[in-house]
Amino acid sequence: MVTRLTDLFGLKYPIIQAPMAGVSTPALAAAVSNAGGLGSVALGALTPAAAARALKEIFALTSGPVVANLFVHRAPRVDAQLARPFLTEIAPAFESVKAQAPESVREIYPSFNDDDDMLEILLDLQPTAVSLHFGTATASRMRAFKQAGIMVLATATSVAEALALEETGVDFLVMQSYGAGGHSGAFLGPPDLATAGGAGLSKLVRDTVAAVELPVVAAGGLMTGRDVADVIAAGATGAQMGTAFIACPESLASDRYCELLLSGAPTRLTSNISGRPARSLVNELLLWADGLAADPPDYPLCYDAVKQLVAAKQNADFSVMWAGEGANMSRRLPARELLTVLAAELADA
Ligand SMILES: Cc1cc2nc3c(=O)[nH]c(=O)nc-3n(C[C@H](O)[C@H](O)[C@H](O)COP(=O)(O)O)c2cc1C
Repeated sequence: MVTRLTDLFGLKYPIIQAPMAGVSTPALAAAVSNAGGLGSVALGALTPAAAARALKEIFALTSGPVVANLFVHRAPRVDAQLARPFLTEIAPAFESVKAQAPESVREIYPSFNDDDDMLEILLDLQPTAVSLHFGTATASRMRAFKQAGIMVLATATSVAEALALEETGVDFLVMQSYGAGGHSGAFLGPPDLATAGGAGLSKLVRDTVAAVELPVVAAGGLMTGRDVADVIAAGATGAQMGTAFIACPESLASDRYCELLLSGAPTRLTSNISGRPARSLVNELLLWADGLAADPPDYPLCYDAVKQLVAAKQNADFSVMWAGEGANMSRRLPARELLTVLAAELADA
């Protein structure tokens, strides 16, 4: 199948393995790129030095195309007063395991827009493309990518966000639905419930294709080749799939995470784990987070506090397990085999 995506990146299949901070690995991305898809490395939560190591690792494993993923969130309000009610509410959970509750919140990683060292590493190591989550990059960063011949993908969740990103000079839009696993990329308001489900995502793709010139990649709840065919029929140039790859042996997902995924556990959105809306499997962490009443501190400050609690608890089910609405369709296959199965299903469809 030839689309603008396969054409520009030299792919066999119009399938991008989504970047998944904490779950995807250079080995997973390389396996996907080597099998004819497009692998992504998640750099958003890494230091520049760790990002350089991850990029060097993937370049050693594949000569195929590689996408480097970055977070471009707005700088959080680091304000002890604002965070106090949340920290007070979660303190007993720390005390229950005799751990020290945090008294302040920290910015565990900066936005790429504030990280000049990360820019330098990207310009030096030259991934085929970068993908942006939570908005867009500054004009000077966009110019630097253009000059270096690095293509730019960016996530949007509505036509308004797609138009805003188009203005800033991105090359591909990743239209992400309400059903997507992990963080919603929404940056002009909350994620739109109307985009949930296969029909919701197809409508989002159709509406976006009608409004913008840019090629559109669809993301959210896509688990089979049939799902990929549906979004391409709606006008997408390809599909970005995250949850479908979580149970691959090349991922970092724990046994409990895979077990819950394959057991058909439901998923739900919450802002109380990281400070931004994100879709998670319903596990002990999600149920605890759902019960909190205080406003969470801004992303990623809230995530810092909750990750400290996760580390203190040492309970396999009290752990971050992002997943999309198609989680129950997961398959535990090596990435190369999964891509072969997806390609056969896509050809059939
Ligand atoms: C475990 C997990 C981690 C994710 N981490 C990132 C990330 O680091 N950067 C990013 O741009 N998107 C991230 N996403 C969102 C994906 O890019 C994509 O929108 C989503 O996986 C699509 O929905 P699906 O999971 O139902 O396929 C993550 C998704 C999951 C499931």
